[in-house]
Amino acid sequence: MDIFRIDGGIPLRGKVKISGSKNSALPLFAASLLTEEETILQNVPNLSDVNFMAEILSELGADVSQLDTNSWSIKPASIVHYAPYELVRKMRASICLLGPLVARLKRAEIPMPGGCVIGNRPIDLHVRALEGLGAEVRLSGGIVQVNGSNLSGNSVFIGGRHGSTVTGTANALMLAVLTPGCTILEGSACEPEITDLCHMLKAMGANIEGVGSHLLKVEGVEKLKGCQHTVIPDRIEAGTYILAGAITGGELTIEGINAAHMGSFLDLLKTAGLPLNYKKRSIKTSENLNLSPVEVVTLPFPGFPTDLQAQICALACITNGLSVITERVYPSRFMHVPELLRMGAHISIEGSSAIIRGTKRLTGAPVMASDLRASAALILAGLAAEGETWVQRIYHLDRGYETFEKKLQKLGAKVVRLPKSELPKSISSAHN
Ligand code: EPZ
Repeated sequence: MDIFRIDGGIPLRGKVKISGSKNSALPLFAASLLTEEETILQNVPNLSDVNFMAEILSELGADVSQLDTNSWSIKPASIVHYAPYELVRKMRASICLLGPLVARLKRAEIPMPGGCVIGNRPIDLHVRALEGLGAEVRLSGGIVQVNGSNLSGNSVFIGGRHGSTVTGTANALMLAVLTPGCTILEGSACEPEITDLCHMLKAMGANIEGVGSHLLKVEGVEKLKGCQHTVIPDRIEAGTYILAGAITGGELTIEGINAAHMGSFLDLLKTAGLPLNYKKRSIKTSENLNLSPVEVVTLPFPGFPTDLQAQICALACITNGLSVITERVYPSRFMHVPELLRMGAHISIEGSSAIIRGTKRLTGAPVMASDLRASAALILAGLAAEGETWVQRIYHLDRGYETFEKKLQKLGAKVVRLPKSELPKSISSAHN
């Protein structure tokens, strides 16, 4: 269990290349099960979640090999319909194995995904999509059992009370592409990661219309073929680095992004007065002048992404005035707040909103990472804070940020990854 030590207060400078999107790569691995032929995935981020997914596919019987750091080959010539509990419980995204397994084998047994610190993670919309296409779904002993012996195309509404579901839409799509007849998925998610999945499915021979919209029309086909697909850039990683530049008052060039995937986020920073100049593939932050407070509401795409909510909270902590950040996707996604308070932030939670009064400086402190994006927020705060910040449980970061500390070190950040044994006694005793 490694930790980070950060010496804050250094403006970051230089260029950083964005990796492939974790939230695109994971459903794409699952989609590769839809054919017996080989799929090659490129620009795959080198993350623990990707390694988990590769391990699960191997356990299912697929021949999975890593061609280089960011490329994988998957040949699922013969696979079984049940996934191992030990691996699946580690990663919620494994739920998107349901669609392809039922599409390919007409049945699936996947352990119910584990809980998660960001809030309740139900799968009722996934079930609605599967049942809408004729599957029978049972939950027995914590295992989701699906019988898909009698599938047929249908019109299904898969939106929920918090808006669309990303992996629910992925599951519905991956089932529909091999389900006889025409399927209409109303209330679909239209995140760039879903668009990326549609592009790969079409390259495999799927028949999908309405790509990028909330209404997807799928004509089922008999078989799909293998393909080669390049994963889109990670818009959340890109946003995290843009905020690293802003919070440290540095000048960064973030390369390899797709600005079209980041509209609401970039618009918000512009309104806050952060001078950004961006072309299609790269964004440059500059010394941030005095930023204005922000008002943010997280929403499904194209709204402000919930996965950048914790990170914008960190920036708001040192922005003059009162910022209000409301979480509409996961209303209780504020695990980062108690830790930011330890660093001198002024935040109060009212319902699903964080009211943040900006302060001149944060001060370094020992903090505990809790989930992937909350951990990123603590790193940003540590980079901006005066003094030393020790971050424990950084395995959360390794799930979604490729070589995070190395990329930050290249930008001049003083951050080191250490074994937990290096934690000062004063901190380890206080924390236990
Ligand atoms: C995906 O999770 C992402 N993960 C999450 O990123 C992201 O926060 C989330 O979408 C929202 O953008 C991956 O893509 C692997 P949802 P997903 O189904 O698909 C409710 C990260 O940090 N809901 O879109 O699981 C749900 O409770 C992770 O990279 C139901 O009510 O999220 C939430 O309020 C965290 N019933 C909302 O919908 C369902 O059946 C959106 O959830 C499913 C979801």
